[in-house]
Amino acid sequence: MLTDSFRGRDLLTLLDWKKEEINQILDLALELKADRANGRYHDDILRAKTLFMLFYNQSLRTRNSFEAGMHQLGGHAHYLDPSKIYTPALEGKEVAYSTERVSDVARVLARMGEAIAIRCYGDPVDWEYGGANALLKEFAKWSDKPILNMEDDIYHPFQGLADILTVKEQYGTFKGIKFVMSWAYSPSAHKPRAVPQSAIIAATMMGCDTVLARPPEMALDPKIIAACRTNAEMNGSSFEITEDFMGAAEGAHVLYPKAWAAMPIFKPPVGEDSEEKALEIFNKYKDWKATREYMELGDKNAIYMHCLPADRAWEVTNEVMDNTDPASGWRSAIFDEAENRLHVQKAVMALTM
Ligand code: CP
Repeated sequence: MLTDSFRGRDLLTLLDWKKEEINQILDLALELKADRANGRYHDDILRAKTLFMLFYNQSLRTRNSFEAGMHQLGGHAHYLDPSKIYTPALEGKEVAYSTERVSDVARVLARMGEAIAIRCYGDPVDWEYGGANALLKEFAKWSDKPILNMEDDIYHPFQGLADILTVKEQYGTFKGIKFVMSWAYSPSAHKPRAVPQSAIIAATMMGCDTVLARPPEMALDPKIIAACRTNAEMNGSSFEITEDFMGAAEGAHVLYPKAWAAMPIFKPPVGEDSEEKALEIFNKYKDWKATREYMELGDKNAIYMHCLPADRAWEVTNEVMDNTDPASGWRSAIFDEAENRLHVQKAVMALTM
């Protein structure tokens, strides 16, 4: 099943990969998942190989799924805290004997391991939209080993892969599946747009009828919106944007409500740097919350999805989060979705490393 065409490739965004390639990753992820359930781990695939993981931000799922995945495939995942090494920095942002230029860090780590995975968004780049993505691209420019994006400020491709694997498992198809990515209220304005942007990229790429529901102030990156329209056209599926939270849920198979930062807030080129103003905007939409009534608007077998961590009581009720019983009609698929991070990442690592 492993093919050489993936070897050495970076995964910074799903937009760099073809639909057929995504399908191959999903198929391999399902194969690895089934094998693990039967006690087969394939610990020969990445034997003695090293993944360096550089985390500028906190993580539960991403760190542990990459670490567990590398271990299961026979390799090692090495955790790096940027504040405990010479912090990798772009030219012009260097501090003597405190930072180290990305071009040097990338080439050093690429000599020692087989891939470098990076998470960076928000505070480490001063909430300058695109700043973290530029950092990852600089790593990719200098490393001759794959660079894997564990979430930057534009994309979270492995979350997008886990999301669509969860849809595939639930429905067996993407055609005719109404996939609703929606904004939801949170009292924290510090949330990047990478998850919703990658979810709509993945859903439109695979041919779901995709709906983006969001208040007017929470628009996503126009370039991502344009890419989603192109994806939908290529698949003969639909992509719509609405400001109607409850209306969007009607007949939906997938309901994925989560918070993200308001588009006009936080630094140029996005806009104003005012958390107070961001929260004022957020507070207008406290009723954008996943409740039983919301879920019941969807298909009778609708799934609730969230990348996690979710802000319980704000984004979603406990009842929706915890209704994981497949026999109950609509249900929460959040733990399948979290587990699927492991399987898609194993598939991508096996193919690229
Ligand atoms: N969904 C996700 O990326 O989770 P973590 O922030 O815990 O890694």
